Amino acid sequence: MTPPNKAAARAAKLRDLINHHSYLYYVLDRPEIPDVEFDRLLRELQTIEADHPALITPDSPTQRVGAAAVAAFGKVHRDIPMLSLANAYDEAELHAFDRRVREGLGIEQVEYNAEPKLDGLAISLIYRDGVFVQGATRGDGVVGEDITRNLRTVHQVPLRLRGSYPALLEVRGEVYMPTASFEALNAEALARGEKLMANPRNAAAGSVRQLDPRITAVRRLELFCYGLGSLEGMEHPAYQHEVLERLRGWGFPVNGEQRLVVGAAGCQAYYEDIQSRRVRLDYEIDGVVFKVDAVAGQRELGFVARAPRWAVAYKFPPKEELTVLKAIEFQVGRTGALTPVARLEPVRLAGVTVSNATLHNVAQIERLDLRVGDTVIVRRAGDVIPQVMGVIESRRPKEVPPFDMPTLCPECGSQVIRPEGEVIAHCSGGLYCPAQRKQAIRHFASRRAMDIDGLGEKLIDQLINRNLVSSPADLYTLDEATFAGLERMAERSAAKLHAAIAKSRETTLARFLYALGIPEVGEATAQQLAASFGDLAPLIEADEERLQQVPDIGPIVADNIAGFMREPHNRKVIDELRERGVHWPAVEVVVVNEGALAGKTFVLTGTLETLTRDAARERLQAQGAKVAGSVSRKTDYVVAGADAGSKLDKAQELGVAVLDEKALLDLLGA
Ligand code: IVH
Repeated sequence: MTPPNKAAARAAKLRDLINHHSYLYYVLDRPEIPDVEFDRLLRELQTIEADHPALITPDSPTQRVGAAAVAAFGKVHRDIPMLSLANAYDEAELHAFDRRVREGLGIEQVEYNAEPKLDGLAISLIYRDGVFVQGATRGDGVVGEDITRNLRTVHQVPLRLRGSYPALLEVRGEVYMPTASFEALNAEALARGEKLMANPRNAAAGSVRQLDPRITAVRRLELFCYGLGSLEGMEHPAYQHEVLERLRGWGFPVNGEQRLVVGAAGCQAYYEDIQSRRVRLDYEIDGVVFKVDAVAGQRELGFVARAPRWAVAYKFPPKEELTVLKAIEFQVGRTGALTPVARLEPVRLAGVTVSNATLHNVAQIERLDLRVGDTVIVRRAGDVIPQVMGVIESRRPKEVPPFDMPTLCPECGSQVIRPEGEVIAHCSGGLYCPAQRKQAIRHFASRRAMDIDGLGEKLIDQLINRNLVSSPADLYTLDEATFAGLERMAERSAAKLHAAIAKSRETTLARFLYALGIPEVGEATAQQLAASFGDLAPLIEADEERLQQVPDIGPIVADNIAGFMREPHNRKVIDELRERGVHWPAVEVVVVNEGALAGKTFVLTGTLETLTRDAARERLQAQGAKVAGSVSRKTDYVVAGADAGSKLDKAQELGVAVLDEKALLDLLGA
């Protein structure tokens, strides 16, 4: 342990270093040291503070990690209220604003500081003697909420000011969520079948107003500062552009798009320039703000109601609109995933007409309870495809039925499968479906599958585009001359390829199963299947329950395999493959069920007291028992722990024996 006096000095030194490098990294985007070195400094400081808690200061960078949750936010009163802005929606309104300013000041031409209007959440930050002491939401302008603990987790909020600073400083700005972070957050929500955040502003507001700062800490929030509030011990700068320079000097992030412009024409040109680049910015803006640059002019003009006469927000066309959902159609991807697409009543969104939007996955339709005829919220952000974000339920026409999910693939008519709990539905006709053809044949020929040397992507594309093959089985019908007729195919390579295809006929059951491309059946699972079933025929006949007895196969993979094998289209291709000579040596079936509980099927449900679910399963399997995921008449025992749910009900309904943990342990001979 570092002795206390040395520790204090080292901690102070580390804080300065870390704050400096944080500023270079987060504000200037120009790191000087690698991340590992930064982490080392932070860890050293954490260690010192852990050993000497008295040394922890409010501006310590270790305090950025989220503190514990609070029950409610405190209130913060402001001496100088945070105002709102008057809006302009077109050039005429912009000219009217400029005229009022010119007349008010009695001058011919006005210089404006032009800034993007950031679409986030307005906040204020208070620094006493250079140290961040309080952060607040705007609230009603005068009274806001104390969100200091949350704002500390935002890396761009300086914990200590740089250079020379006034005794008291209140800075105003906007906390926002960069578009990329917003999209990542929504992609995660989608994959889990959860509710989407409507837009980055809501996401930022929701993240900043979290009672639990640990949640704020994991949302990637950023900050731009654009103004001053209370100030003690320093003159207010004479110009808005100087305010921004000062803010930069103290270490605050300031938006780089700010410019000085002259008159309404200058404002209009700035507006058009930013608008043309709007989709390429990595944060959302809903317009631009023009502020009279000279603070003396601002004071002369003053305020009306809650908005200054010296500034205006010139708004962009909205990125979100309402329109009517005319139909839902499905596209089938290369892997067989069904993506729903919304056909919309055309609507203008941020300057373009939108008539289609993505619905991501079938779970999204269910979650929104989307129905044809609904009024929906569509949103267009950046270059991404417009998305349906929500439904206005109150505008639903009377008696529209819930949406019927397709049961057959729109491309090939195979059954659609969607294992319970999955958000994505798949076409099960992997070997047959035209949408999946290229992918299926590529996978089939790959090295770890049928290992057809020389059959690369470009050749596969040619074979498919010329209608020479439509399934993997067709590969075995082609002769050398056909290959020689392909582009960029010398005679020798044609012969080699033909030989490689012929050779691939001799394979193993595991490779063959892997080559079929059943969703979520990788090499290891294919090997387990081969070892457990010995041949293809019993595997084709196996139901979900039997499949789940194979080690590592759970309900989702079992559904995928059974669904795939049940699909007649796939069966036809499998038959053709075998007729055309694909074969494998017999596999010795690995019998796992030797032991006291051999042949008995168990289902585990609820929480056990002394054993984890995994441990119970392993011990049962060690004695030869099978552990299945769902209860049926073939189940011998259901082991029910605390909070057992539907599986216990099912066991009682079917009259299956139910064991508690003690009975299980007795049975295991413990
Ligand atoms: S100045 C008196 N500048 O817009 C001036 N506001 O409707 C008041 N905003 O609550 C604000 N970007 O949340 C200003 N560059 C910018 C801004 C900006 C976004 C927001 C801010 C404010 C709202 C006013």
